[in-house]
Amino acid sequence: MSKFQFDLHKTDGRARTGTIHTPRGEIRTPAFMPVGTAATVKAMLPESVRATGADILLGNTYHLMLRPTAERIDRLGGLHRFMNWERPILTDSGGFQVMSLAGLRKLTEHGVTFKSHIDGSKHELTPERSMEIQRLLGSDIVMCFDECPALPADKNRIAESMELSMRWAKRSREAFGDRPGHALFGIQQGGLEEDLRGQSAQALQDIGFEGYAVGGLAVGEGQEAMFGCLDYAPEQLPVDKPRYLMGVGKPDDIVGAVKRGIDMMDCVLPSRSGRTGQCFTRHGVVNIKNARHSDDPRPLDAACTCPACSNYSRAYLHHVFRAQEMISGMLLTWHNLHYFQELMSDMRAAIAAGTFAQFEAKFHADRAQGDI
Ligand code: GUN
Ligand code: ZN
Repeated sequence: MSKFQFDLHKTDGRARTGTIHTPRGEIRTPAFMPVGTAATVKAMLPESVRATGADILLGNTYHLMLRPTAERIDRLGGLHRFMNWERPILTDSGGFQVMSLAGLRKLTEHGVTFKSHIDGSKHELTPERSMEIQRLLGSDIVMCFDECPALPADKNRIAESMELSMRWAKRSREAFGDRPGHALFGIQQGGLEEDLRGQSAQALQDIGFEGYAVGGLAVGEGQEAMFGCLDYAPEQLPVDKPRYLMGVGKPDDIVGAVKRGIDMMDCVLPSRSGRTGQCFTRHGVVNIKNARHSDDPRPLDAACTCPACSNYSRAYLHHVFRAQEMISGMLLTWHNLHYFQELMSDMRAAIAAGTFAQFEAKFHADRAQGDI
């Protein structure tokens, strides 16, 4: 199949399971996308990332435009070939990262100028330039160039920012052009305001996209407020297109988001935590740094089939973490990515079987048990 197409297979309550078909392979939804910001999922070979069950990775316009530059990646055959990942890649558009990482930013109707966090050099991103960079990278799923205010912010500021993002969404659509097999996703904004979210959803649907993201969440509002927004936001978006919740999250955030109709998510949490010794398990988070693991011959999680759990003891994982050996980040990242992908796979199976409520009850009961 050479087209980009979303097939919804089954719904269970508001939870959905389906398949996104792309020329570079299928994406089973709900999908978790590991983050490969700088053309690598840190501490992992791409074939190992695939072995955890990932169908798609996320890359970042902001980081790659600064280093090694989109033009260089293009000359070297595109991002897939450059990083040895031939399956689908979604790229974020850069605006959100500029706001959180870059120095000395200036925002206008035209776009944003900023100083690189790497060397202080000056750069500009506009909807047109972001589309060009994502095309040079060869991204399969391109995100609109948007802007997102930090929460809490007053409603006028949120409305103005959302309206600017909708004008940028129109310019993104026009600059993206007609690229069969590649998709452009709109990004809904509007903070925690239901009416603004509704206006944003309508503006995006008037333009028309291959998929729709819920943006502007997981920016410090807390899980209760985020779920409050997800109680209406996904249903403001088209039922027949993928819905992507950007930058989420912890395992319980992911389960709650899928329950509310989200199809795709990304987060640095499993990979970043793998390098700081935080391990996700069915029973909750294990901090491998803790001295109580130093003599423990048991695996991290007896039920996990990842290499860290199959072949090593907690005592070993504790030792290599304390000794700052590189294998520590490798094994713990692998375990965490395996855990996240297994969670997604279990949710897809439960939705297909119509047993998502039972899945959710067991997910929370296992964590409450706390045998870690
Ligand atoms: N990552 C997390 N949230 C957002 C958002 O609102 N917009 C973009 N572009 N990326 C994000
Ligand atoms: Zn494991």
